Amino acid sequence: MENKITLKTQSPSLILAQRLKKIKQRLTNCKSIEDGDITEIDSIIHMMESQERYLDECTSFESSDLSKLNKVTMQTDWNKIFLEKKSDVRLMTQMMSSKLSGQLLKMLVTMSGAKKILELGLFSGYSALAMAEGLPEGGKLISCEIDPYAAAFARSYLDSTSYGKKIQIRLGPALNLLDNFMVEGESFDFVFIDAKKTEYKKYITKIIANKLITKQSILCIDNVFMKGACFSKFEKQTKGSTEVKQMNQLLASEKFFTVMLPVRDGMTISKLR
Ligand SMILES: C[S@@+](CC[C@H](N)C(=O)[O-])C[C@H]1O[C@@H](n2cnc3c(N)ncnc32)[C@H](O)[C@@H]1O
Repeated sequence: MENKITLKTQSPSLILAQRLKKIKQRLTNCKSIEDGDITEIDSIIHMMESQERYLDECTSFESSDLSKLNKVTMQTDWNKIFLEKKSDVRLMTQMMSSKLSGQLLKMLVTMSGAKKILELGLFSGYSALAMAEGLPEGGKLISCEIDPYAAAFARSYLDSTSYGKKIQIRLGPALNLLDNFMVEGESFDFVFIDAKKTEYKKYITKIIANKLITKQSILCIDNVFMKGACFSKFEKQTKGSTEVKQMNQLLASEKFFTVMLPVRDGMTISKLR
């Protein structure tokens, strides 16, 4: 259980718990350290890790389709697939949404009554399936994915479930596909952004410029913490974290009604005002 959560998530608590474990190891060999200090460090690590486990435990169970997809994704050797040049993108099990994020997305889709969903970043199809499970009769989800291997992997699994027919996959770079949707006159009730981090702000501005959402539509964005780099100056700043930070500032402006949630690596929910 502990390994599963650590592997799949990048929440600040788990990142800090891992660091504290290393500090504890060094301090254990230090003569001046008192037993009470080590006990205190242990209790901090426990608090951080058990919060993550508790969030999962107290969230509704995932469907058997989701749980099977979770297992299949975890068991796939994505690195080997990349080294054998079968995938263009270096895919990783950690890319998959957690059970908590999946159930949050499903809850938001159900509560909003969204009928048409756009997803940027499909990977193995976990978040797409979770959202599709929340769609009403006749609902539809379009997911954009740049990697042909990931798209084929997800297609094959999704078609083995009763939700496959609700899910369309578009292959290509998300920014180009957002232009195609404008030409096709598409509009979406719910958008989940989880593709290339260095393009996050561009996704938002293009979605709005191409009139792909209305004031009723919900935007949901994953990885808004970028493993803490968005708010801690001690973390390595990357092109991705700089772009995500800029997007976070845009979503916090008066043009939007936004709530940022500390779910795993940060999840933002937003609407146009
Ligand atoms: C974090 S994963 C998506 C995980 C998935 N949403 C889930 O929760 O299970 C990001 C995916 O975006 C894809 N991707 C990366 N850059 C992209 C781009 N420019 N356009 C479309 N997809 C992209 C990657 O190939 C990868 O499959």
